Amino acid sequence: MSVAGVGKIQVLPGEVVSRIAAGEVVERPAAVVKELIDNSLDAGSTRITIEVTDGGRRMIKVTDDGEGMGQADALLAFQRHATSKLRSEEDLLGIRTLGFRGEALPSIASVSKVRMVTACRHEPVGTRMLVTGGTITKTEEAAAAPGTQIEVTDLFFNTPARRKFLKASTTEFSHLCQIVQQAALAWPRTQFRLRHNGQDVLEYSPVSSLRDRVLQIYGARFLKDIIAVREERPGFLLEGFTVNPVRTRAGRSPQDLFVNRRPVKNATVAHAVYDGYGGHLSKGQHPVFVLFLAVDPDRVDVNVHPTKREVRFADQDMIHQSVRQVIRGALRGRSEELGMPIPADSRGEWPRPGSTAAGEPPHDSMRPAAQQTMAHDTGRDDRPTAMAAGEPTQTYLIGPGCEVIPMGQIGRTFLVAQVGSELHVIDQHTAHERVLYERLWRAWQARGVQSQPLLIPEPVDLPPHGATILEEHLADLATLGLELESFGANSFVIRAVPALLGQFDYSTLVQDLVEDLAQWNAASSLETRVRPVLASLACHGAVRAGRALDPSESKRLIEDWVEESLPMTCPHGRRVALRLPAEELARIFGRA
Ligand SMILES: Nc1ncnc2c1ncn2[C@@H]1O[C@H](COP(=O)(O)OP(=O)(O)O)[C@@H](O)[C@H]1O
Ligand SMILES: [Mg+2]
Repeated sequence: MSVAGVGKIQVLPGEVVSRIAAGEVVERPAAVVKELIDNSLDAGSTRITIEVTDGGRRMIKVTDDGEGMGQADALLAFQRHATSKLRSEEDLLGIRTLGFRGEALPSIASVSKVRMVTACRHEPVGTRMLVTGGTITKTEEAAAAPGTQIEVTDLFFNTPARRKFLKASTTEFSHLCQIVQQAALAWPRTQFRLRHNGQDVLEYSPVSSLRDRVLQIYGARFLKDIIAVREERPGFLLEGFTVNPVRTRAGRSPQDLFVNRRPVKNATVAHAVYDGYGGHLSKGQHPVFVLFLAVDPDRVDVNVHPTKREVRFADQDMIHQSVRQVIRGALRGRSEELGMPIPADSRGEWPRPGSTAAGEPPHDSMRPAAQQTMAHDTGRDDRPTAMAAGEPTQTYLIGPGCEVIPMGQIGRTFLVAQVGSELHVIDQHTAHERVLYERLWRAWQARGVQSQPLLIPEPVDLPPHGATILEEHLADLATLGLELESFGANSFVIRAVPALLGQFDYSTLVQDLVEDLAQWNAASSLETRVRPVLASLACHGAVRAGRALDPSESKRLIEDWVEESLPMTCPHGRRVALRLPAEELARIFGRA
């Protein structure tokens, strides 16, 4: 509505602008922690301690031993677009610090209560400040150790709508753990400590190599499965670790990518890594990696996302090609371990099914994105993954109840059998996996997954954020027949497992389940939440490739699979069987 002479457009008051802007930077407690850690790192700190209560919803305190601020700077730090890291527009082209927008402190302060104590190394006194909802309410001199301490309490106290969107303490804390771990990976020489509700949760002492930091964060088991990568080219350096091709997994965690030491998501690099693995990744499998990419600061735009979690490369094609080649090169060094020679064509590339003559993959068909959908949609997908040459595509005329005559096993992996009038070669693992999955799924739908208590409960230890996630889903897992009990800080005991599954390594299962559970809240329906978990249960419970099966076991497995209507893919999308109907055999041998 506008009155004559008075327009309807008004400039918003400063504090409203601040709160709107804060919404972009400060999404949740983890975002506050990220900004504060970034500032501490930019200030050259060697020790950073993060203390939080209630998943950061109540209090977040970050203490560093960096260069600190004098009083004049301390006052300016809470003003919007006040920064010591950028002087002119040209500086935007070559950013070497983590911060540069001068937005974090004012944004955080506008939606919380902040107390800051800071002191420069050679100055006799420091400064203490209180800021409430963006307004500085107190500034005074204070005795303080060199460095900066910023305490943020009551996040979103003045924006109730945002406060409502905060998740449970455990969820917020698990996001926050990941922020700390990412920072720790990028800065191995810096000490990081994280305390939650008065208890030490993470402690990473300074180390001199990335390998040692990876060991602290992901453990020895992870290090065993990865190979080192390092290659420098003009304007490009890629280093870190990526999974040994024989150890690719169904899970995607971790896939840590850093560009100029910033943790980012980037589809170009992710795609190039997948491409580097080429034929070593079957459908539904993923590489895990911790990779650091360094490029000239003026060839990458870090100013494309308010929380800086995305970047844009000036030389996208060069980056894609280089990453792919470096990964391939690193894997090629491992060819003996793969137990097979890796054929290289004249361009030194590995042939890849479906690859074009030019060898350059189309950038828009991002494989990670496609696989993401795969992993969440593990329902009835009966598409065979790839049709073998000459395999008939007509519909099959056999079904439940037909006769199964097992004929043997090839390489302890494939079962050969006559099923009805067809010749079948069946992957014992994927077939069994699909059977278990179908049965678990039906049992779950009928709310009747039977569980079988373990005679000796099995202990399992998890990293802190994994433990947090698991703790939150104990009741959900119980409905799936998996009974766990919390047992001290990050330990659990497995008490019962679904009766449909036999004996296997239960603790590895639980470790893998954490990845499925991390996606749980993102899924829209209960069905889509449960499916990946059931798929993991089925995968772990199924007979492995490499196990000898006697004819009666083979028969039983194939009959079960036939009873489930011969599904042609496992829940992760891998192929189950090759089928040759009698008519097809006749045709091949010139009898028809
Ligand atoms: N922990 C810290 N130690 C020293 N100086 C800091 C610290 N945190 C913030 N500052 C100062 O406050 C300024 C504003 O911080 P911030 O709002 O995060 O913006 P930016 O990091 O983008 O410059 C920084 O440029 C820096 O000079
Ligand atoms: Mg900053």
